[in-house]
Amino acid sequence: MTSPVPLRTVTVGLLGCGTVGQNVLHLLARRRDIFANIGVQVVVAGVLVRDAERARDVPAGTLLTDDPSFLQECGVVIEAMGGTVRPLSLLHPYLKSGRPVITANKALLAECWTELREYALAGKLYYEASVMAGTPVIGPMSTVLRASRFESLQAVLNGTCNYILTQMEEGKEYAQALEEAQALGYAEDPPTLDVGGFDTAHKLAVLARFCADGDFAYDQVKVQGIEGVTLKDVQEAAEAGEKYKLIAELKPGAGGVGWEATVSPQRLPASHPICTIGEGRNTLVFRGEECGELYFAGGGAGGMVTASAMVGDLLDIVIGFPGHVPLH
Ligand code: NAP
Ligand code: HSE
Repeated sequence: MTSPVPLRTVTVGLLGCGTVGQNVLHLLARRRDIFANIGVQVVVAGVLVRDAERARDVPAGTLLTDDPSFLQECGVVIEAMGGTVRPLSLLHPYLKSGRPVITANKALLAECWTELREYALAGKLYYEASVMAGTPVIGPMSTVLRASRFESLQAVLNGTCNYILTQMEEGKEYAQALEEAQALGYAEDPPTLDVGGFDTAHKLAVLARFCADGDFAYDQVKVQGIEGVTLKDVQEAAEAGEKYKLIAELKPGAGGVGWEATVSPQRLPASHPICTIGEGRNTLVFRGEECGELYFAGGGAGGMVTASAMVGDLLDIVIGFPGHVPLH
């Protein structure tokens, strides 16, 4: 009888143990087999939190700490803490040392691109979860879709807003629907990022770097949120066979010069493909000259759908696939 081949150990550090971080830990434990099948065991060296004493739903033996020194021994860092300044300060030296990072943090990617771009170009940044959570869109846009000349995209990219607007169609008040979206783990901290349209703008900036301009700046997006949409507006739209959606759009600028990127609430026919998906789900319509019109739709917010994309990114790292490289 041959003895089993010892597994190669990949040591991971996790930043954040909230809605997303806890599910990453559970999914790593649940899908141990997919790593073992390629000869790897993933060991989580530690999890960085603000309050290490708080009880959490994590696998037994997980080290929760407010001291980031455990990162030094990690081969891969998974960032699920949010914000910009703190994660950048933790990740920057780490990236500089040549090690890969997985992040779900579109605010960080959108607003700190000057600091992160060189690592993305080097294939060291993996961020499938940052846009449309568990629905893969960054993967295709950073690879096969480049063969086709990009024309435009139109998308619902925020689960919280989509949930709120869908609930308002049922007659629920905005404030109650927002509370429910928060309880479901969809909303940002603070939720102004969602309802003000900024989270959608972050995501649109991330996508624009794969199809329009590798240096696309977040402040190029014109942003309007859903705070001004009333129950009466939603009901009037419904009577006319229409729905309100928070729509992200990217298309060539006037006269074909530059790009026009907008986030705004729009009233569309209920039969429009972008309106057929409700609750916390997302939809993206991608138009390319050669590939034609493509539709992506699925889970866009929530702990486990987001974790599924992050663990998928970890699998890519272990296999040796590069991260998500922008246009250059
Ligand atoms: P969350 O539930 O608020 O969890 C954030 C975690 O990060 C908490 O465990 C918190 O620690 C920790 N943390 C925050 N600031 C910290 C600091 N300065 N030092 C140490 N730890 C800190 O947030 P989340 O919903 O999981 O989202 C995390 C990230 O994923 C965000 O970038 C978000 O945009 C992104 N994302 C979220 C979703 C979603 O559906 N929720 C989907 C896609 C992407 P404590 O627990 O001790 O406070
Ligand atoms: N707050 C975000 C949303 C989480 O509601 O879409 C997923 O990125």
